[in-house]
Order: sequence, then C-alpha cells, then structure tokens
Amino acid sequence: MSETNAYRIAVIPGDGIGKEVIHEGVRVLTHIAKRADFGLAFDIFPWGSQYYEETGRMMPKDGLDQIRHHQAIYFGAVGWKTVPDHISLWGLRLAITQGFDQWANIRPVKFLPGLRRVLNRPELGDLEWIMIRENSEGEYGGFGGRNFSGRGDGKEIALQTSVFTEEGCERIIRFAFELATKRSRKKVTSATKSNAQQYGMVLWDEIFARVSKDYPDVETEQWLIDAMAARFVQKPESLEVVVGSNLFADILSDLGSALAGSLGLASSANLNPERRFPSMFEPVHGSAPDIAGKGIANPIGTIGSGALMLRHLGLETAANALERSIEDAVAQGALTPDVGGTLGTTQVTDAIIAQLDRHLSH
Ligand code: NAI
Ligand code: MG
Repeated sequence: MSETNAYRIAVIPGDGIGKEVIHEGVRVLTHIAKRADFGLAFDIFPWGSQYYEETGRMMPKDGLDQIRHHQAIYFGAVGWKTVPDHISLWGLRLAITQGFDQWANIRPVKFLPGLRRVLNRPELGDLEWIMIRENSEGEYGGFGGRNFSGRGDGKEIALQTSVFTEEGCERIIRFAFELATKRSRKKVTSATKSNAQQYGMVLWDEIFARVSKDYPDVETEQWLIDAMAARFVQKPESLEVVVGSNLFADILSDLGSALAGSLGLASSANLNPERRFPSMFEPVHGSAPDIAGKGIANPIGTIGSGALMLRHLGLETAANALERSIEDAVAQGALTPDVGGTLGTTQVTDAIIAQLDRHLSH
C-alpha cells in the first residue's frame, strides 16, 4: 500500500497520559493496517500545554488548516498544571470540535466480559448503551464575560450563557433517533432540566417531542438529569440511546464509564456527520496528571476510539476485529490497576495486539 493511497490521520497526543495512550493506539492501528493491508499514515502534531509554554498558544494560528484535509483526527487528552484548564481546553480540543462543527459526540458504554463491576449485581450481565452528546453549543456555547471587578473586592460578576438553537437541538436529537432505529431495542431517552432551565431546555424538549413523531417505532422517554443520574446507577439495564446537552451528557458519560469499570475504558467519536470536516476520535478521559508518567494508564478507551475511527473510515472488518480483540484481551486478564489488574499500558496493548493476530489470521 503506497503512502498516497493511505488514510492520513492527524495525531494530537496532547498532555499527560494522552501521550502515553495515543502512542499505544498508534501502535495498534499501525499493526492492524499492516495485517489487514490498508494504508494508514500518521502525522503527529505536538500541540498542548508544553507547546503553549513555548509559544503562548495551544496550537499554531493556522492549526485547523494544518489538519483540515486529514481523513480523521486521533486525539489523546489536554490539560496540565502549567496552563489553566479553560485555556488548554478552549485552545485545543474545543477549538477543534467547534471549528470543525463536530456536533455529534458518540460515547458507547460497554460492560466488558470478565471485568470487575462497580455495581455488585451479577444479574445485570454485560450491558451496553450509547450516550449521544450535543457537542457544539448548549452550556459550551462560549458566550459570556466577567466584569465589575473595579467596583471593589467581592463585586465582580460573571455570565456564562447557554445557547440552544433549534437547528442544533434538532440535528443531535434526529441523530439519536437514527441510531436507535438500527438497534434491536429501539428507544431514545432524553435528559434535560427543563423545570429549572425554562428557555433552552424547554426548546430542546419541544424539539424532542416533534422529532419523535417521525420515528413512531422508537420508544421515547424524557427524564430530568438528576433523576437520570440515579437511574444510571439503579436501572442501567433500561438504557439504550441516551441523548443530552453538551454538559449533561459529558457528566453522564463519565458516570457510565465508571459503572462499566473505569474512566480509562470509555471511547468516543466527535463526528461532523456531513463530512465537511474531519471527525475526531479520543478517549473520554482527561490527561490524568495523578498517574501520568507511571506507565499504568489504561489504553483501552483510546484503542477503542481507534476502532470507532476505523469504522468511520469504512474499515468495518478491521474495526470489529479490534473491538473483539479488546474484549478477549480483557477477558484473559490484561488489566491495568484502575480495573484491578497489575499490568502496564504497554503490556495491555501487547495483549490486544496478540488477540488481533488471532482474529485477523482467520
Ligand atoms: P481525568 O479523566 O484526567 O482523570 C480522572 C481520574 O480518572 C483520575 O484519577 C485518573 O487517574 C483516572 N483516569 C483517567 N483516565 C484513566 C486511564 N486511561 N487509566 C487509568 N485511570 C484513568 O480527569 P481530571 O482529573 O478531572 O482532569 C485532568 C485534566 O484533564 C484537567 O486538566 C482537565 O481539564 C483535562 N481534561 C481533558 C479532557 C480532554 O482533553 N478531552 C477531558 C477531561 C479532562
Ligand atoms: Mg468529560
């Protein structure tokens, strides 16, 4: 396979464990491409907090242009103590998701066979559901400001305005319904807080009701976010496709991955479904400064995000083989400390690669 026929992937390792897990993810993807005979070419962009210390920016001014023509972006995590979190997040990850209108954030929650569970309820079995996060507006609209500090100590004010547009709500809700129609149990649950958020979230609810009429075969539910958090713990078996605003679905997806065993397991895709721009694939977790540099970060969220990327590129067989390899490696005890094991990041990756060789030789 020549370089010119290859899918070009922009790789942004970022900070902390982002660098460690992306390194392993690229290793797995390189291996699978070679074995399955397709071309993947990786361009590494060393953007992040260290780049900020050197240049005063999280990425170059023309950063988006540098990665605009790649087929996909593979992202680690961003955030380090040397840079305020809102600067690192807005300067890199949100600059990409919003700049490339990656409005659909897909976050599957999967209970992998053989993993220790947080909920001590063996009768639940291996659950699987999908979080759909609105990824372009809502609480992350970025509108607001701070002022009045000149009035004296204790007098400053800050406004942080949520933005809910009909277009933004409709496209993500419709996306959730379309996904639900492809599942065996067709059900979409929407989580809002429209009793308190009487403008934006009431608009969301109205659009949810309107769009649901186009999908008479899909069961629907509208829940308030606080009760929804409790339901994640008490009745996770009732979840299929859950759609929520930028902030709410972010919180619920950490809860979901913790229920599945660890934040380190969760994968995600930031999609621009129209494919006007490249989509971005990344683990759900952050840069985990508490374990960075120790070689013990769980690589599964990142490797699973690589599988989502392969599927997005149309490489379905390779994506399936990779997902099965992750499951088999876990079932055979390839576990980092966050899920009760003793192996390091590299060893777990090696175990997944060994399973890949088995699956791809069939
Ligand atoms: P975090 O997700 O980095 O870590 C939370 C906890 O989960 C930590 O105890 C960490 O050790 C553990 N953990 C996370 N990923 C793990 C993995 N792969 N294997 C084993 N354990 C893992 O969230 P936190 O601590 O709130 O944020 C740290 C930094 O990451 C902050 O600067 C934050 O802004 C940034 N962040 C960046 C994100 C992104 O780039 N997409 C997402 C979330 C946070
Ligand atoms: Mg998050």
